[in-house]
Amino acid sequence: MKLIHTISETRNQVLRARLRGWKIGLVPTMGALHDGHMSLVRRAKAECEFVVVSIFVNPTQFGPGEDFDKYPRTLVEDVEKCRISDVDVVFTPSASEMYPEGFNSWVEVKGYLTETLEGEFRPGHFRGVTTVCAKLFNIVQPTCAYFGQKDYQQLKVVQKMVNDLSMPLEIVPCEIVREPDGLAMSSRNSYLSPEERKAAVVLSRALSKARAAVTEGERNAAAVQEIAEGVIRLEPLASIDYVALRDAETLQPIDRIRKPAVLLLAVRIGKTRLIDNAFIPTN
Ligand code: PAF
Repeated sequence: MKLIHTISETRNQVLRARLRGWKIGLVPTMGALHDGHMSLVRRAKAECEFVVVSIFVNPTQFGPGEDFDKYPRTLVEDVEKCRISDVDVVFTPSASEMYPEGFNSWVEVKGYLTETLEGEFRPGHFRGVTTVCAKLFNIVQPTCAYFGQKDYQQLKVVQKMVNDLSMPLEIVPCEIVREPDGLAMSSRNSYLSPEERKAAVVLSRALSKARAAVTEGERNAAAVQEIAEGVIRLEPLASIDYVALRDAETLQPIDRIRKPAVLLLAVRIGKTRLIDNAFIPTN
């Protein structure tokens, strides 16, 4: 496994693999790797002959007052996890390698998809995500890039960018990985105190209860949202940013479940903001 800090050396390594006709898999991350990330790596390893993991805490996707400075950075452990998983290249650029002085080009998906939900609570967030992803896709030129469905809106935004700009790669959505009690794995879970960690299970509990209601025949979107909100309101450490049942493709609000939908949550547990979601099939 090679640990590389520069764009040019990453390109060299990937070029050698491409000349051999190998499929190239990219797993973009901000580090603090957990089992969720490692499931993306396993999927990439199963499908591609050459796998690159990028580790870069991307400053442009954090707004003022967000957690950029305290975002967990565990590079030594991350690199070891990648080595054990037989990753070919770990690309860990510096901020100045990715955004040299004078950098002034942005890739932005406009419109509702980036303005709603996370876009409303974190203005500018998706512009940072799409810009860094576009850069990573240009650097690595992967056959496939692997994204977790926990960041469901991010996945949809990146898919939209790739489609709109005819980028020559496939975005592979991967299942959410959960702790045994249901909490979706996230690097931000490390911010939680033991008491908050217990309380955080309320997100997955709310999703399960709402999904169960749909399975039993509830089709009214407001009623399904209310079931999830009711569960969260019972947890004193939790405060809701949003609970939203949306069309699974467009993320537009719906009145009734007629097409595949997704129930998305953003909830603060103490000072930690967590997101989670559940796919709601029509039958
Ligand atoms: O999901 C993340 O970890 C980040 O948003 C990503 C896709 C690596 C871009 O910085």
